[in-house]
Amino acid sequence: MKTPPMGWSSWECFRCNVDCMSDPKNCISESFFKEMADRLAEDGWKELGYNYIMIDDCWSSMLRDEYGRLQPDPHRFPGGIAQLADYVHGLGLKLGIYADFGTHTCMGYPGTTLDKIETDAQTFASWGVDLLKFDGCYSDAYEQAEGYPLMSQALNATGRPIGYSCGWPAYRGGLPPRVNYTLIRDICNSWRNYNDIEDSWNSVLEITNWFSANQDQLQPFAGPGHWNDPDMLIIGNFGLSLDQSRSQMALWAIMAAPLIMSNDLRTLSSQARNILQNKVLISINQDPMGVQGKRLLQEKGHIDVFWRPLSNSASALVFLSRRTDVPYLYHTSLSKLKYTAGSYKAFDVFTGETVSLPTHTTQFTVSVNPSGVVMWYVYPTTYWD
Ligand code: GLA
Repeated sequence: MKTPPMGWSSWECFRCNVDCMSDPKNCISESFFKEMADRLAEDGWKELGYNYIMIDDCWSSMLRDEYGRLQPDPHRFPGGIAQLADYVHGLGLKLGIYADFGTHTCMGYPGTTLDKIETDAQTFASWGVDLLKFDGCYSDAYEQAEGYPLMSQALNATGRPIGYSCGWPAYRGGLPPRVNYTLIRDICNSWRNYNDIEDSWNSVLEITNWFSANQDQLQPFAGPGHWNDPDMLIIGNFGLSLDQSRSQMALWAIMAAPLIMSNDLRTLSSQARNILQNKVLISINQDPMGVQGKRLLQEKGHIDVFWRPLSNSASALVFLSRRTDVPYLYHTSLSKLKYTAGSYKAFDVFTGETVSLPTHTTQFTVSVNPSGVVMWYVYPTTYWD
């Protein structure tokens, strides 16, 4: 996970739908994950880096097996997880699975208590799982301080490389001193800091606000191999307009967030697909330097400016409008956004247009739609090219 993981998860869009009788196409089951894996492999996602298919909660049987191991629900996963992993690997993808450190998962399935950590790590490795999301429902702060590092050791002890995504910080308020990010960065590849995303613009804004308000405490801990996780992409679902969908993608790219979609890949609109498959946006998110961006300023006119440094002296800028009236003309210059002297070009990630900025003091204007963004990839130019 030298760059933020990318892929698809069942949770936000399909939740704990286990009703395969009345909803066979959308229930948490083997055939459902195979179908989504097919879409990832065949519809251009894999080539862009979306390579994880993540099983979230509600996959397991209500009981462990006779050896105390987790087992999938036999009706919904008749072939078992190992066979599903083979299928996913055969498509050139990776398989993620969900477990919960505690007595039960958040939805009430068997949890992983301290005495089960080693068994469960071994089970996941034996199935060929590539990533574990380890949630934290039904355990307390003391148990978690023991359990999360233990699972890290147990996963490493399996000898199989397994990404480790920790729910821990989100259960402890997400901020120091209650959360020890120095430790978490060392043992987890990514971690949820805050509340679950829901299918609404309000939810995207609330998450963005929290990450921005606390950026000085969170941003330093992100980097290659270890990422803050503001939760899934909900683009392609019901809650976001076209502009709001662009905004989520732009903000998640600035935040160096995992790009884990939770949507229905079988029925995605071409508008949603175009946003999620925007190559420049993805390359900004996946920048090898791996520095998380920040909110630079908040204007009284309700424009927020976000900035992320990128490789090759480039950077990304996002102008977000919190307005609810009309497209707003925002006038500024790179010097006002703390850029150093020089000549720059700006590539508009959504329109494909390039703007020349001969000096850092050159004034420019962007028109930002209500709850929308303008996003620029900015790079220095020499005077002679
Ligand atoms: C928690 C997590 C979610 C999801 C659910 C599953 O709420 O934060 O992402 O995994 O549990 O029950």
